[in-house]
Amino acid sequence: MDVHKAVIPAAGLGTRLLPVSKAVPKELLPLVDRPMLHYIVEEALDAGITQIVIVTSQGKDALADYFDPAPYLEKVLEERGEGATAAAMRRVRTEAEFIFVRQHEQLGLGHAVYTARHAVGDEPFAVMLPDDIIDAPTPALGQLLATAQQYNASVVAVEEVPPERISGYGVIEPEDVADGVYRVLSMVEKPTQYNAPSNLGIVGRYILTPEVFSALNHVTPGAKGELQLTDGIALLMETQAVYARRFEGIRHDAGNPLGLIKASVSLALKRPDLGPALRKWLQETLAQEQG
Ligand code: UTP
Repeated sequence: MDVHKAVIPAAGLGTRLLPVSKAVPKELLPLVDRPMLHYIVEEALDAGITQIVIVTSQGKDALADYFDPAPYLEKVLEERGEGATAAAMRRVRTEAEFIFVRQHEQLGLGHAVYTARHAVGDEPFAVMLPDDIIDAPTPALGQLLATAQQYNASVVAVEEVPPERISGYGVIEPEDVADGVYRVLSMVEKPTQYNAPSNLGIVGRYILTPEVFSALNHVTPGAKGELQLTDGIALLMETQAVYARRFEGIRHDAGNPLGLIKASVSLALKRPDLGPALRKWLQETLAQEQG
């Protein structure tokens, strides 16, 4: 299975990050010194996917602007000896090819993916949620691609979720097929901890066959008129096998204030230029708090 395109749905309202998301699209909020969207595009490139379809909406033109060339700024950075930052800026705009499509109404993640159908065409593709930041030695998307290629089928990323948080996830009923790989028997969106079919929650990376578009077209929207991606995948499962991969790595939900801070601190602690000073400050601050 060859996958050339990644769809990044970025047209949502970002209400959990109001009021800042009123003025700055949530996908451009910074983790240390680059927008979360930057990490997602880097992850796609690291997994060998260069064609990026970004689903945007009214008021979010800054998403496209971010990938415009900035030769003057890059030159300034290079003159200051900050060539690595200039290279990171250049990489995402030169190695990736972008297509922007517009979602006119926020009718859910499934609808955002469906909006990208003409840009994707009749080929398997990836979906990457920009507020799910996955810090992994092998890019999470690359791990999923390997499984999709091995089974020639759609694959969703899953992680183990503690019972008290499972109600925030789509949860799979798994059948073990290999270490960390499952055949998905069924999926339940936001179950209670008592009726969850497992502790494996779906997170924001998917490899999907193009038949999911037709499935999405047949899904009945939920109570708020929203089209859920998991409902489309559940319908796809009636005609095709779908697998799940428990990826290696740490995932941060950067779509809410606490998750955004945790992701930023965790990424900064790993940076040689910032980590030592931040670690010292955190230790001193915690020690002061404990009195
Ligand atoms: P989220 O539910 O995390 O994002 O969707 P949201 O709706 O923007 O945020 P909250 O819940 O109001 O705080 C995951 C991704 O799907 C996109 C979002 O932009 C986000 O990146 N999305 C969601 C769309 O593109 N369109 C939609 O209709 C809904």
